[in-house]
Amino acid sequence: MESSVSVVYVESNKMSQRKKTVIDILRDSDGFVSGEAISDRLGISRNAVHKHVKSLRGRGYRILGVSRRGYRLEEEPSRLSMARIADSTEGSAFGRSFRYYDEIESTNAEAKSLAASGAPEGTVVIAECQSAGRGRLGRRWTSPAGKGLLFSVVLRPAVPMGEAYLLTLVAATAAAEGIEAATGVGVQIKWPNDLLVGDRKVGGILMEVAGEQDEVEWVVVGIGLNVNTEYSELPVALRRTAVSLKMATGEPVDRSDLLSHLLLSLETQYTNAVRKGFDDALQAFRERDYLVRRSISVETHNGPVLGKASGIDEHGALLVDVGHRQIKRFHSGDVSLHR
Ligand code: BTN
Repeated sequence: MESSVSVVYVESNKMSQRKKTVIDILRDSDGFVSGEAISDRLGISRNAVHKHVKSLRGRGYRILGVSRRGYRLEEEPSRLSMARIADSTEGSAFGRSFRYYDEIESTNAEAKSLAASGAPEGTVVIAECQSAGRGRLGRRWTSPAGKGLLFSVVLRPAVPMGEAYLLTLVAATAAAEGIEAATGVGVQIKWPNDLLVGDRKVGGILMEVAGEQDEVEWVVVGIGLNVNTEYSELPVALRRTAVSLKMATGEPVDRSDLLSHLLLSLETQYTNAVRKGFDDALQAFRERDYLVRRSISVETHNGPVLGKASGIDEHGALLVDVGHRQIKRFHSGDVSLHR
């Protein structure tokens, strides 16, 4: 049977021929190769070799450098198996069109531009590494090459703009279920979009929407997960608050299998929400609500609001009991625990 799956592999256009040659030289050698030998082969300075090695390390190549001996390739970055992913998501609406990048600025930015130029629902943009990964509230999302999952899906839901926001909750619960199915690790959701293992963040969701008041044109759901990231690879500022699935289980996780589970679970929950409404998604979220009954602080333009998290309403807004029998609703915001 002819396959209708399209997988476009996009090799990083920033990976110069010189860097590829450095890798080839190191691959072809059993042991160390001196910086001088590499610089002679390429006709560039030792310093230029050093710079290429540094940039390759940033792309996930583990290259050992020892003075007076040179460089040795220890490990190449792991790559997703798009063939396996396409196989296991065969027949699914989110398994028909993949664009797989070695490196990209941001999968969300790319998915948005594809969506704006008519890409069909279910188009999936995946990258091994992002140079300008974006998080919520203008933050950055960083992940070492080949260690996380970084992907964005184009959706075209027939819902009014006011409901599109609920898709963040759909994506978060779908991601939590996908992670549990693939790894057995329990995941809770910190409203609206943080995926937590225990008290630590393992991933997040960035949803971006375009359209008119009464009709959504497209939605891009971007998911970033720390999968095989080591503790030492987490940004220092996040080492007390972040975790990876490998750190949680003690075992490396098969990223291709995990991505297949995530896409299937996202498709099931999304289709259900668009056809039948958001009740199931709200219920699924409530069962994983990390904040409920905790003392929290919500950052607002007028300063922090303190209170007790009291779940979410039917629109997915966060409810906060601020005392004196008053419940406040928040549709967006930055929430932290208030101890
Ligand atoms: C957050 O927790 O603030 C959301 C993080 C979302 C990160 C993902 S990684 C894939 C996709 N591309 C981006 O630039 N961001 C999202």
